[in-house]
Amino acid sequence: MAQSVQVTTSPSYEVRIGEGILSQAEQVTSSYSGVAILTDENVAPLYLQGLGLPAEAETIVVPAGESSKSFEVLEKVLERLARQRLDREACLVALGGGVIGDLAGLTASLYKRGINFVQCPTTLLAQVDASVGGKTAVNLPSGKNLAGTFQQPAAVLADVATLASLPAHEFESGLGEVLKTAILSGPEALSSLETDAPGLLARDSQALSRQIEACVSFKAHIVAQDPREAGPRKCLNLGHTFGHGIEHIAGFGVIPHGIAVAAGIGLALEHAATIGVLEEPDLVERVQQLSAALELPGSLAELEARYHLSIAREDLVESMRADKKNRGDKIHLVLPVRAGEMKLDVILG
Ligand SMILES: NC(=O)c1ccc[n+]([C@@H]2O[C@H](COP(=O)([O-])OP(=O)(O)OC[C@H]3O[C@@H](n4cnc5c(N)ncnc54)[C@H](O)[C@@H]3O)[C@@H](O)[C@H]2O)c1
Repeated sequence: MAQSVQVTTSPSYEVRIGEGILSQAEQVTSSYSGVAILTDENVAPLYLQGLGLPAEAETIVVPAGESSKSFEVLEKVLERLARQRLDREACLVALGGGVIGDLAGLTASLYKRGINFVQCPTTLLAQVDASVGGKTAVNLPSGKNLAGTFQQPAAVLADVATLASLPAHEFESGLGEVLKTAILSGPEALSSLETDAPGLLARDSQALSRQIEACVSFKAHIVAQDPREAGPRKCLNLGHTFGHGIEHIAGFGVIPHGIAVAAGIGLALEHAATIGVLEEPDLVERVQQLSAALELPGSLAELEARYHLSIAREDLVESMRADKKNRGDKIHLVLPVRAGEMKLDVILG
């Protein structure tokens, strides 16, 4: 049974979550004048056929990984759509992880000044986070995600069956975002995640569907209030400023994003306790136990031990200064007050 979450942005769209729902792509895209599929070389052999789209649909396969979020690849994809003479009523289907979703979203927002696109996320990170909320981007030599738009998809089909083939480190990366969302959502979400932790590690489809639905519902609620991240949406950056600093020091790609975020959440809790922002001291212990149950590093020390790294605090602060969410030279943090309540724009210093 598929679950459904409505994201009430403008335009509003449905996120369907469940096992085997990739095949609904045909029905979801049937009203468009033409369909193209963007995917990567790892995902194409596994799931392209499962979409059940007509053989004449243009299929564009790009190299797997972050390097495809570039202007060079974007131009090639746009050119392929143009050569197919797709018109403004056509639809682009994104089949893959967050890289494909971000690239497809930007392509769809630029081609003929905007066509529809449907997200079919196949990583846990993309199912719980990247496919919802309408942020699109490519990278610039100066940094990640520096060129992008806001473009909401027409629909999202999150098929949990695709997660069976996900490499372990990619799966763990998604779990970091699941942990983050439970802390943002509040005590009930934390309890539910505590119960589901063993099922998630076993990639049980019911536990996965439940937790993906919880993450999508929370994100849908936040982005509907604040589609362009002017206020409340900033809470989604919990653990991210520390996490980006860690990723930067280790060298991008060495530590999966969500794992750096998990350690970043540990640092955010520690800092919130130190400066007196945290009003629920038990949350530190609870999140550490939950991180352990999800096999995520609950602190910087655990991450250092896991990756045989040593990260000096001064170096971490220095690399956090480069985070694009900062304003000027000041480091802006999201810190927990208690489960379900965050303090935004706390300046580190
Ligand atoms: N738009 C947003 O709101 C948002 C939010 C978070 C992250 N992001 C972006 O998402 C990207 C990271 O996404 P990601 O972690 O999904 O990485 P990814 O898209 O690079 O996918 C990770 C790897 O898994 C492979 N893969 C994907 N699905 C698979 C499957 N089912 N089975 C086997 N292999 C599979 C891919 O080929 C790739 O090698 C980053 O570029 C980040 O900036 C965007």
